[in-house]
Amino acid sequence: MDELKSIIRDIHDFPKKGIVFKDITTLLQDAKSYHRMIDLLSHHYIGKHVDKVIGVEARGFIIGSALAYKLGAGIVLVRKPGKLPSETFSKTYALEYGTDTLEIHKDAIKPGERILIADDLLATGGTMAAVVDLVQSMGGELVDCCFMAELEFLEGRKRLPEGKVFSLLKF
Ligand code: PRP
Ligand code: ADE
Repeated sequence: MDELKSIIRDIHDFPKKGIVFKDITTLLQDAKSYHRMIDLLSHHYIGKHVDKVIGVEARGFIIGSALAYKLGAGIVLVRKPGKLPSETFSKTYALEYGTDTLEIHKDAIKPGERILIADDLLATGGTMAAVVDLVQSMGGELVDCCFMAELEFLEGRKRLPEGKVFSLLKF
């Protein structure tokens, strides 16, 4: 795990002064690390029934789609405003460096479907809390919130349902 952690690089003052940005592109572009990361994440959910994985734009798409493929589940896109072509539900939330809105197609989740939400990184938890809200308001059953990395000092998991958070690499 330490080896995977060491490949993620810190970029200081991006996208704003004072933020230490965890740049995951260095891990993704390394074939062995990328494979290992997806294998470790997907193994965590083997045997747990998952109907659909949600990938959160944009870096969450990379994790979510690979996980969905591995688990034999569908992939649902949660996107930034104005990108989804059909009718949507939306939720506005605060980010470590600003505010944003996320949208999901109204017909993307059916009541009772078992949903795994995937993103690259848990910081303040605002993004994931917004997606959890969308899933629950649509009647989806939350399996877990799954992250490649977590910034533990920001305590984002406190904003998420207890016992429903898994992260691979903790900083
Ligand atoms: C980043 C990251 C998570 C979110 C985590 O996304 O990919 O989605 O921030 O922050 P939080 O826990 O404080 O909400 P960003 O909005 O920068 O979008 P991107 O993936 O499109 O770069
Ligand atoms: N998303 C929110 N905060 C972040 C950070 N510090 N690094 C990378 N992605 C982030």
